Amino acid sequence: MTSSVQKLEKLPGTRPEGSQNETEASARVQQMFDSIAPRYDFLNHLLSFSLDRVWRRRTAKKFMHILSRPEARILDLCCGTGDLAFALDRARISSIGKSQHSRMEDREPLIGSDFVEKMLERAREKSTKHPYRTAFAAADALHVPFPDATFDLVTTAFGFRNLANYEQGLREFARILKPGGELGILEFTEPGSGPFAGVFRFYFRHILPRIGGAVSGSSEAYAYLPSSVSKFPSPAALAALIEKNGFRNVRIASWNFGSVILHSAVRA
Ligand SMILES: C[S@@+](CC[C@H](N)C(=O)[O-])C[C@H]1O[C@@H](n2cnc3c(N)ncnc32)[C@H](O)[C@@H]1O
Repeated sequence: MTSSVQKLEKLPGTRPEGSQNETEASARVQQMFDSIAPRYDFLNHLLSFSLDRVWRRRTAKKFMHILSRPEARILDLCCGTGDLAFALDRARISSIGKSQHSRMEDREPLIGSDFVEKMLERAREKSTKHPYRTAFAAADALHVPFPDATFDLVTTAFGFRNLANYEQGLREFARILKPGGELGILEFTEPGSGPFAGVFRFYFRHILPRIGGAVSGSSEAYAYLPSSVSKFPSPAALAALIEKNGFRNVRIASWNFGSVILHSAVRA
């Protein structure tokens, strides 16, 4: 934990290669996701052996107590092509359907936002093929265009690590959540120890970037993935940071040999 806290002092947020400050880092992240948007879904499922779908489903399950309330207002930040937003809405449909069938169509639309328009275009296209109640809007997660205390649940999947300032992001999430509202951050982290974790580490550092780079045409984006994960705070350090920035009851769920982590917390 100490080394991650030290890392964090030196590295307030992501810094893709060549970026010197927050503005440059955000611009690099935006360019990377813009360039891989057309192949993003295909590569996500391929490179994770479709486990990404399982992780998003599990994340949705953790927040069933909120999803089952039709009036709950939910925002998925850094939503990319919308897969977590869709997983949350699917869970919503099944839980409201079971408990209060007549109110299913009255449920609040789930909002997804991202700062890459090409990712949002894919999300909107996908949403038309299913009975989702979702709306997608362009927004920077560090400056979210919603009033204070708007949401009951704010989530983000594999997006938080890419923020140019982690503490600013957390303060912004706390601002837009109602007191007692909940936060879910799904992220990659360095896997634990043991033989399976070792195999996964090798795959993640050496094989995934090669396949991702070759298929997407952007070797930078898929080299950035393991390099940004290696610089990201440990789960314990991130939990401390979440608590410091307006949250309580921080919990950690760990999947895939400790390489995928869900932090959940309650807005203080
Ligand atoms: C790895 S993708 C994850 C997409 C999606 N949540 C998923 O589970 O597949 C990361 C996304 O975060 C977005 N992103 C990164 N930094 C952002 C920021 N400051 N504001 C809004 N979106 C951001 C990127 O544009 C990208 O779509």
